[in-house]
Amino acid sequence: MSMDLVTILYLVASVCFIQALKGLSHPTTSIRGNVFGMVGMLIAVLTTAALIVQLAGGALGLGWVLLGLLVGGTAGSVMAQRVEMTKMPELVAFMHSMIGLAAVFIAVAAVAEPWAFSISGHGQPIPGGNRVELALGAFIGAITFTGSVIAFGKLSGKYKFRLFQGRPVQFAGQHWLNLGLGLLAVFFIVGFWHSQSWLDIVLVIALGFALGVLLIIPIGGADMPVVVSMLNSYSGWAAAGIGFSLNNAMLIIAGSLVGSSGAILSYIMCKAMNRSFFNVILGGFGGDAATAAAGAQEQRNVKSGSADDAAFVLGNAESVVIVPGYGLAVARAQHAVKELAAKLTEKGIDVKYAIHPVAGRMPGHMNVLLAEAEVPYDQVFEMEDINGEFGQVDVAIILGANDVVNPAAHVKGTAIYGMPILEAYKAKTVIVNKRSMAAGYAGLDNELFYMDKTMMVFGDAKKVVEDMTKAVE
Ligand code: TAP
Repeated sequence: MSMDLVTILYLVASVCFIQALKGLSHPTTSIRGNVFGMVGMLIAVLTTAALIVQLAGGALGLGWVLLGLLVGGTAGSVMAQRVEMTKMPELVAFMHSMIGLAAVFIAVAAVAEPWAFSISGHGQPIPGGNRVELALGAFIGAITFTGSVIAFGKLSGKYKFRLFQGRPVQFAGQHWLNLGLGLLAVFFIVGFWHSQSWLDIVLVIALGFALGVLLIIPIGGADMPVVVSMLNSYSGWAAAGIGFSLNNAMLIIAGSLVGSSGAILSYIMCKAMNRSFFNVILGGFGGDAATAAAGAQEQRNVKSGSADDAAFVLGNAESVVIVPGYGLAVARAQHAVKELAAKLTEKGIDVKYAIHPVAGRMPGHMNVLLAEAEVPYDQVFEMEDINGEFGQVDVAIILGANDVVNPAAHVKGTAIYGMPILEAYKAKTVIVNKRSMAAGYAGLDNELFYMDKTMMVFGDAKKVVEDMTKAVE
């Protein structure tokens, strides 16, 4: 296979990846986006495999490639089939750890035998620019590996090991230590650029491994989705760095796509939660919410009703907006909600869904849930598109959501001050379903629950929604 053909195939794969991202930007085109991604990855993997066989030569090269494809392909498909939707961030964290480790391995292999990667002639030193790229790629890859392993542990919440527990691990001088280790890594990267010594690159990788752990342990478990998106970005930049040193255009393009889309997603998530980007990068957040949530809450009266009462209100409405939140995902009530919406629509009631960008615990969480239940896309509205309508809506029904509808976001000094919210409090009547008066993720009480026009319907979302549907019938 000529190198020109390889370059063309890599280019085709890169175009497929760009199309995949474009397709994934909207639910109606997301399947097409996924197909583009799969085709691009197939072309990339087969081209690389053919190249390895050609370079390594003979049956041994082919054997290694087939073994890699078999092990990786089997593990990937088994995991993808078994994973539950709420466990998706964990799977993504695991995948990122593998990308980081792959970047480290490739860098080590390229330093050991640069001629095999066409970086330099046999026995020749690696050119200076490539040394810097290799060291940087290995460093970011090492941070991504250990950082993702910690994120995985914290997300799963199954392990007793202290560093894997949701509670942040903080100590005095933590940020200074991280800064010191970062500067030390820069020192050794310069050392590697200068002398191409094994000691320097090994120390760069070791510091990367240590920093990956230290950067993630001060962050609380509930904030891991933001961290996973950040690590996603790091893994992309690690791949792009290695791509530059290997002169591999596809790694550079795919790495940059992952790096920049991960960074943009992290930014969007931070903005939607009103957190600063630097606050996330420096770590140390996620603990306040847990502490606040644990605090005792003042006893106040609320108006509560049964599923039948709620169904009566719904049945008399002309327009209803459903606001799903994290509790809907916990209760797996998406199919039940679709049933309720269908019954209301049959009665001539206008039903819409309002989606907050950070409702739930991962980006697009609510969109994925509703898509799984095959809710028609034309009923699903993003926050900017529906907020203006709440004033005219007869009933806003809030299912397992709390922070994303909390008017405390308009009150200076609160933990969520400045966070954009779904303005459900403007609806003529508000029905809220949750199990208790417990706080949401941000640990704040919600004034909406105490408003005169609000009816609380306590219970698990699935059961309550099913009961409402029966009563509407
Ligand atoms: P939350 O504010 O966390 O509120 C969820 C509510 O669901 C809780 O008040 C809980 O009350 C209720 N609930 C739990 N299980 C339930 C069940 N089985 N049936 C009925 N209700 C149930 O959720 P939200 O409004 O979706 O807001 C998301 C929060 O997560 C935001 O603060 C956001 O910043 C944060 N966050 C989001 C992301 C992303 S990317 N989505 C990432 C990190 C953090 P009870 O316990 O009383 O039932």
